[in-house]
Amino acid sequence: REHISYRRQRTFAMVKPDAVHRLGEIIDVIQSRGFEISRMKMVQLTRTQAAIFYREHEGRPFFEPLLDYVTSGTVIAMELITSDAVKRWRETLGPTDAELARQEAPDSVRAKFGQNKQLNAAHGSDSDISATREIEFFFPSSKVNGITGPETTASF
Ligand code: PPS
Repeated sequence: REHISYRRQRTFAMVKPDAVHRLGEIIDVIQSRGFEISRMKMVQLTRTQAAIFYREHEGRPFFEPLLDYVTSGTVIAMELITSDAVKRWRETLGPTDAELARQEAPDSVRAKFGQNKQLNAAHGSDSDISATREIEFFFPSSKVNGITGPETTASF
């Protein structure tokens, strides 16, 4: 029944510069865990864009190093869809610190593809609200003469 079914949910994933060279393996993990990749793009973030994306961490000691790092190369942005996507993608990533991930969640993305707290392979939205904001930031709906252009997305 509709009201007891597991609702499909969207989340935002970003493969960070240290792990882009292992994108194929990361996509294998994403698909084997049942996520649908509904949109994907490869981009180079500007510092201003990175600061807006990570604005919740502004003022933290790692903020500037984080911006240096995430603008140091290409990132891959993805919208992922499955039931309970936000929670499941965070679980698939494992703990923020890749070294801790290797102890606590050895099958996780960060354990396999990350190096430490900064070079941690990938990002995942921490809530449904963050997911909506982050997806819209990377995949803005654009209009020409009032008409929305073609989407890169599958149906949701
Ligand atoms: S929080 O809010 O305290 O739980 O922050 P956390 O989830 O640990 O980390 C948020 C993001 O900041 C990055 N980070 C760091 N970057 C550089 N140096 C240090 N020391 C550091 N600590 C945390 C971390 O990789 C997280 O990035 P995302 O992209 O969200 O995974």
